[in-house]
Amino acid sequence: MADKPATATLSFGGRSLELPMQSPSVGPDVIDIRKLYAEGDIFTYDPGYTSTASCMSTITYIDGDRGELLHRGYPIDQLAQKSHFLEVCYLLLYGELPTAGQLEDFETRVTRHTMLHEQMLYFFRGFRRDAHPMAIMVGVVGAMSAFYHDSTDIADPWQREVAAIRMIAKMPTIAAWAYKYSIGQPFVYPKNSLDYAANFLNMCFAVPAEDYVVDPILSKAMDRIMMLHADHEQNASTSTVRLAGSSGANPFASIAAGIACLWGPAHGGANQACLEMLREIGTVDRIPEYIARAKDKDDPFRLMGFGHRVYKNFDPRAKVMKESADEVLALLGVEDNETLKVAKELERIALEDDFFVEKKLYPNVDFYSGIILNAMGFPTSMFTPIFALSRTVGWISQWKEMIADPQQKIGRPRQLYTGAGRRDYIEVEDR
Ligand code: CMC
Repeated sequence: MADKPATATLSFGGRSLELPMQSPSVGPDVIDIRKLYAEGDIFTYDPGYTSTASCMSTITYIDGDRGELLHRGYPIDQLAQKSHFLEVCYLLLYGELPTAGQLEDFETRVTRHTMLHEQMLYFFRGFRRDAHPMAIMVGVVGAMSAFYHDSTDIADPWQREVAAIRMIAKMPTIAAWAYKYSIGQPFVYPKNSLDYAANFLNMCFAVPAEDYVVDPILSKAMDRIMMLHADHEQNASTSTVRLAGSSGANPFASIAAGIACLWGPAHGGANQACLEMLREIGTVDRIPEYIARAKDKDDPFRLMGFGHRVYKNFDPRAKVMKESADEVLALLGVEDNETLKVAKELERIALEDDFFVEKKLYPNVDFYSGIILNAMGFPTSMFTPIFALSRTVGWISQWKEMIADPQQKIGRPRQLYTGAGRRDYIEVEDR
């Protein structure tokens, strides 16, 4: 095999620049353009960063063509079959699978941090009852910097560690309480005897008036949803966390920014939008109308839960999620549900239709997660908060990696300016 070139040559305006090449451990080579402006007085233009690596990272690798997702090298399907959410959290945060002792210690640390400062309860009560739980999450997570000052000094590795544990531990409590508040039920405090996923289900569905027993199949499905959403390299919300954190903002504020970004329907908000779309379609006979709308260039409608920026073959998370969906639906006996029939038929048509095949639009993780969460009894408004609590470990791992990176700089993209050139101010009476 020919040696890889050490540089790439860029020619423009009769000049040429040699740009160093960087080789990743896996994946395509990267042209290092950091000196481009200083040496060439020229920028690159890449809206949506489709061809731009914004950082070096050792956490997650995605091969979009092969439909492969690796966390610290381990394939997501192996993790989904053999591991569990808190073990994956450890792996993402510290880089290796834990020993039994390390895992026990980590689980204890997370479990001991699940309660919220009692005064935060009043903060929840300040919201309108009909507030979207994501709105509450953005507010409450941002407010954590006001409640936990002792872990906001980003220069102190110990404080960064405490902030990470706090965030992973408290996010389920925040999401569950946002839900409880919206339905007018009392907040349920965390229970240390339950595992992470079961504890979340208990905080969402228990009431003081009667006992609630968490079904192990449901808590396993919840754990899997969390695992499958744990990290996804430099997606929009993670890049937002990195960008916010690059200015030195504290981790709680940076992650509140990530939650805001995740809320959008093109990103984490797609799980809510997808189920709402399935309900709007309503019956199988109306699917062709919606498929026609998705194909119509003049119609902004998109099939929610389909397509992905990076996966152009299939979404490996969707494959595992589909298996989980089948298990949960069988357990709950909701296989005959009309929304589900629409989902299954839509999936079948889209996978066979030339338009979707050519554009490589496959059902993504959000297509199936919404179906499971709906069957579990969650309202659609809780789908994105559950994504947020699952992605928190990814955000905090990436944030920690960025802070410890000696090459880290404040994120500051440039632009291709197309506005007016310099012009002189005109007095109002002369305009
Ligand atoms: N329905 C219909 N057409 C679509 C869809 C869709 N869901 N997604 C992409 N296309 C078309 C799009 O119109 C474009 O066509 P053309 O080349 O003729 O202009 C082509 O496919 C490429 O689309 P794009 O917008 O350039 O692709 P992108 O990589 O910028 O967008 C995406 C990726 C996920 C935002 C997009 O596929 C989408 O909006 N999907 C629906 C929302 C969704 O399910 N999001 C969840 C993503 S997975 C979880 C997560 O990241 O949070």
